[in-house]
Amino acid sequence: HRGWRGIIEEYRDRLPLGPDAPVVTLLEGGTPLVPAARLSELTGCDVYLKVEGANPTGSFKDRGMTVAISAAVGEGSRAVICASTGNTSASAAAYAARAGLVCAVLVPSGKIALGKMAQALVHGARLLQLDGSFDDCLRVARELADTYPVTLVNSVNPYRLEGQKTAAFEILEALGVAPDIHCLPVGNAGNITAYWRGYNEWDGDFGTGRPRMFGFQAAGAAPIVRGGVVTAPQTIATAIRIGNPASWQFAVDARDESGGLIEAVNDRQILAAYRLLAREEGVFVEPSSAASVAGLLATHEAGKVAPGQRVVCTVTGNGLKDPDWAISGAAKPETIRPTVAGAAEALGLRRS
Ligand code: F0G
Repeated sequence: HRGWRGIIEEYRDRLPLGPDAPVVTLLEGGTPLVPAARLSELTGCDVYLKVEGANPTGSFKDRGMTVAISAAVGEGSRAVICASTGNTSASAAAYAARAGLVCAVLVPSGKIALGKMAQALVHGARLLQLDGSFDDCLRVARELADTYPVTLVNSVNPYRLEGQKTAAFEILEALGVAPDIHCLPVGNAGNITAYWRGYNEWDGDFGTGRPRMFGFQAAGAAPIVRGGVVTAPQTIATAIRIGNPASWQFAVDARDESGGLIEAVNDRQILAAYRLLAREEGVFVEPSSAASVAGLLATHEAGKVAPGQRVVCTVTGNGLKDPDWAISGAAKPETIRPTVAGAAEALGLRRS
């Protein structure tokens, strides 16, 4: 038995990096595929959670970032830039720090979770906030990278999606065949594109089949569902607060080629799934991540998920990134006297 080596060494033959390319890794990937007993019971399906919050910076972005930063170093780049709702910037900052690159991140002012901001800052990135949406940030970052000597590490950088497709490989290795349905949140639409690519590649080589791709946007930020750009996207799920996804057409292709769907879930459904995951599955995710599970429950409710199917829901980011939502919906801490009697009384315990 040997330890996990990170996604580049584990899947090198399937990634567009030469044999001598430098590897910048935090040993990302190899994340748990956790059976979800309560969700299985609620849906009559065999449900698993792909827990991407277990990655080094707490989200799936690390899979793409290890490849994008390694390629940037190999190409002699000195500086990287990205637009972000928070997780891409946290990941870029960490991998850039490790590689000794300068990193700048562009985020929508006041709209990224506290933990993600802490991550970008602690890793030494330049954090630029602008008064606008993620979509405005991405436009500025793209044009900047076209004009100045900085490498763009958003998912429009092809190395990003190549790295992210490895999550599908891991699921296929764990289950042996593709699930019937794969649910995931959709923001800039890179991840649904990457998973679909990963499932197709493996199926081409090993005949493992392909799932139906079920993507879920937040109702106030659902351009693909509505069929038009959303100029002022709104949702508590800040990670997917995006009105004009870069990989829009790829997501539509994944949906249509797989016989899947892309639907909207509202903030109330997202928060209900967020709490269910924490309280009944023991899995603490950030609100945006719960969109996959909210979507599974909603489509099951609508009769679109036949019982007995095998379903994987990707939960994309760690709950610790956005602690405000955990605290606001929960019971308050109770202050007690510093005695056994004080604790027993607060807990309503009787002597045995
Ligand atoms: N879940 C989380 C936690 C995310 O951070 C993101 C995207 C998504 C889902 C959606 O993935 O964009 O590939 O469709 N976050 C990006 C960022 C936009 O800047 O961190 P997608």
